[in-house]
Amino acid sequence: MLRSVAALSVGVLLFAASRMSAVCQETTPGPSAQPRQMHLRRTMPKPTNLQVLPKEIAVPDLLALMRSYTAALGVECEFCHAANPKTLKTNFASDANPDKAIARVMIAMTRDINAKYMSQIKDPDAKPADKTVTCGTCHRGNSMPKPYAQPRSNEHHHHDEDAGKKSD
Ligand code: HEC
Ligand code: HEC
Repeated sequence: MLRSVAALSVGVLLFAASRMSAVCQETTPGPSAQPRQMHLRRTMPKPTNLQVLPKEIAVPDLLALMRSYTAALGVECEFCHAANPKTLKTNFASDANPDKAIARVMIAMTRDINAKYMSQIKDPDAKPADKTVTCGTCHRGNSMPKPYAQPRSNEHHHHDEDAGKKSD
């Protein structure tokens, strides 16, 4: 999963950084002369409400994971995280947004798919990334995975048969 994090667009990273500035404002009011990323790392509070992710996860790793979710689903942090209706600041520890609960099940499911099932696949051709299911494997940039649409005609099938006949 972290492998795909490296492939995230700069836009997503910049967006996430802008979102996190809300947290900085919440925890350390007042101006800061520090570069935003430094500021972010120093002021991001330790998570208090992790139920499926490892509680000891490092904050930068947690944020990288969160950015991978936004990219995989094509959403913003607030798709899963509730904002305070008065201040409009995001409360990341809050469970008020029902999509956060769905995401917890999805995280556990994805972990199980890899640990219990993909780990059994002995395919010498597959690189580790090939046999790792991520959020993006199903979601492909959509918050709701699109149903697979079968090709409407069986043109391809006929084409293959024709090709076979010609070469006979
Ligand atoms: C697809 C849903 C989803 C998206 C999008 C998402 N998150 Fe999360 N986030 C979660 C879930 C679920 C948890 C709780 C994980 C757990 O219980 O172990 C969480 C936890 C967190 C926490 C820890 C809060 C605490 O104190 O426990 C932070 C911080 C956080 N997310 C930041 C972000 C940021 C920043 C973004 C946008 C870049 C983001 N999240 C996008 C689902 C999401
Ligand atoms: C095996 C395929 C699969 C994987 C992997 C997967 N999802 Fe999903 N996800 C689905 C399906 C199917 C739905 C629709 C379920 C429903 O809404 O009833 C869904 C729905 C969701 C929703 C609710 C969307 C909405 O519009 O309400 C969230 C949030 C979500 N997934 C987050 C994640 C995250 C985060 C990951 C990775 C940790 C993940 N999913 C991995 C298949 C998957």
